[in-house]
Amino acid sequence: MDSQLRQDRILILDCGGSYAQLVARRVRDLAVYCEVLPSRASRERLLQNEYSGVIITGDPRASRNPTIDPILFELDIPILAIGYAALILNRLLGGSTEPGERQESGTSELEILKPDELFSGEVPSPSPVWLSSGDRIATVPEGFTVTAHTADFPVAAMSDPERRIFALQFHPEIRDTAAGETMLESFLRGICGCSAEWKMSAFVEQTVAGLRERLAGRQVLCAFSGGVDSSVAAMLVHRAIGHRLLCIFVDHGLHRKNEAADIERVFREHYDLNLVCVDARDRFLGRLEGVTDPETKRKIIGEEFIRVFEEEATKARASMGEIDVLVQGTIYPDVIESGGDASTMVKSHHNVGGLPKDIGFTELVEPLRDLFKDEVRRVGMELGMPENLVWRQPCPGPGLAVRIIGAITPERVAILQNADTIYREEIDNAGLSREISQYFAVLTDMRSVGVKHDRRTYDYTVALRAVSTTDFMTADWVRLPMPVLEQVSSRIVSEVEHVNRVVYDITAKPPATIEWE
Ligand code: XMP
Repeated sequence: MDSQLRQDRILILDCGGSYAQLVARRVRDLAVYCEVLPSRASRERLLQNEYSGVIITGDPRASRNPTIDPILFELDIPILAIGYAALILNRLLGGSTEPGERQESGTSELEILKPDELFSGEVPSPSPVWLSSGDRIATVPEGFTVTAHTADFPVAAMSDPERRIFALQFHPEIRDTAAGETMLESFLRGICGCSAEWKMSAFVEQTVAGLRERLAGRQVLCAFSGGVDSSVAAMLVHRAIGHRLLCIFVDHGLHRKNEAADIERVFREHYDLNLVCVDARDRFLGRLEGVTDPETKRKIIGEEFIRVFEEEATKARASMGEIDVLVQGTIYPDVIESGGDASTMVKSHHNVGGLPKDIGFTELVEPLRDLFKDEVRRVGMELGMPENLVWRQPCPGPGLAVRIIGAITPERVAILQNADTIYREEIDNAGLSREISQYFAVLTDMRSVGVKHDRRTYDYTVALRAVSTTDFMTADWVRLPMPVLEQVSSRIVSEVEHVNRVVYDITAKPPATIEWE
């Protein structure tokens, strides 16, 4: 913690919306430590730390008339306002705004009129920038100069070099702004004088120290799925409080082949995690018997998961005493997906099915809620977790249940597990596992005629899916090399009983989804 206190730090003041964490991520990528505070934060909170600079972000769709504490302008530290925050700052300092002409957000060519320190790096003119539609700056406050414009925005950038205040109506943090990173780097290094010292190890050190203090003397429970997010979250808390963290892993029988046993072995034996593995396979499969509707499957698994977890929490309380803190592996994209303001919410689509608020926890700990997936993986590596765990594929909470079309029986689960294992092995052998966002086999309910060992068969078709995506909202199918597909197909039909046909899914999302159910 001490080493952290001595580092340069940037304040990101969030006037609403989802840009703040993206800006924070870019700042971290430039190896500078930053803190995000809401614009409504108290003055004491704003003044609590000495900042090297402030970046203000906002979104007109997220909050109405947010304001900024004017004390910021008296601190004599550089300020950069981005997007909607540029309008807020402009208004506060005496400038005016007007309705813009643009109907849609998108890129425009930025022309630099007067290069200031922000544009002093290698920012070409013209250069594409990403702007949102809506109001625009009309007149600038006293002391400010218009430094750049676009066809639709007469004041796309302005600055008061003396007070070191900069405002950009476009978004440098969005990749469509080609020179955005250069501008942010100029702000952080040239204008704020921050050095590139911050590392993920500092995040780990600081988070662990914070958790140790916050959880002093308390017992904590974690719904552990073995996925990347819940594992990294648990390992951080474990490093802070050791055995006072109890992880509950529910084996619902719908994990990949050997996955439950592997998780138990690695985390309990190797990491000395206080882990309870609950064998609830019969319970789950019993309740799923004869169920074919995908949403009913999800509902049953979600409900049963909560029931098992509650029972285990009760048992744990009986032996350990008070446990009022719950750890969850929520990461930043989950916060956005769940509707932005997740400050009090328990993740509804969490990998383990979503836990209700009323099961006796007074506090939720989400140590990864500000991080993006690749940053979570970096934290995992920093914690010394093995690569195969840190690079685990995302797996839906209901597991293989949504990859078995139609009824779920122990026999059909085994067929899918075996086919999926072969697919995984061959993707690994081809060295492709890190290049594909998500890949898995699906057991369809289609049966067709085939021939095996000179005999007629009437067996299932397995579908293979592999997608590349950055956000899982849209995805493209991966053009797997033919020899890999050929090898997977011939191994599945020869090694897996009751499968006589393999097909490859060549559909993008949309119109398809990534999962088949
Ligand atoms: P879809 O199929 O909606 O999947 O394109 C997008 C991403 O979400 C995962 N997914 C789920 N995750 N519970 C989960 O925790 C679910 O019910 C669920 N359904 C889909 C899917 O694996 C993909 O990564």
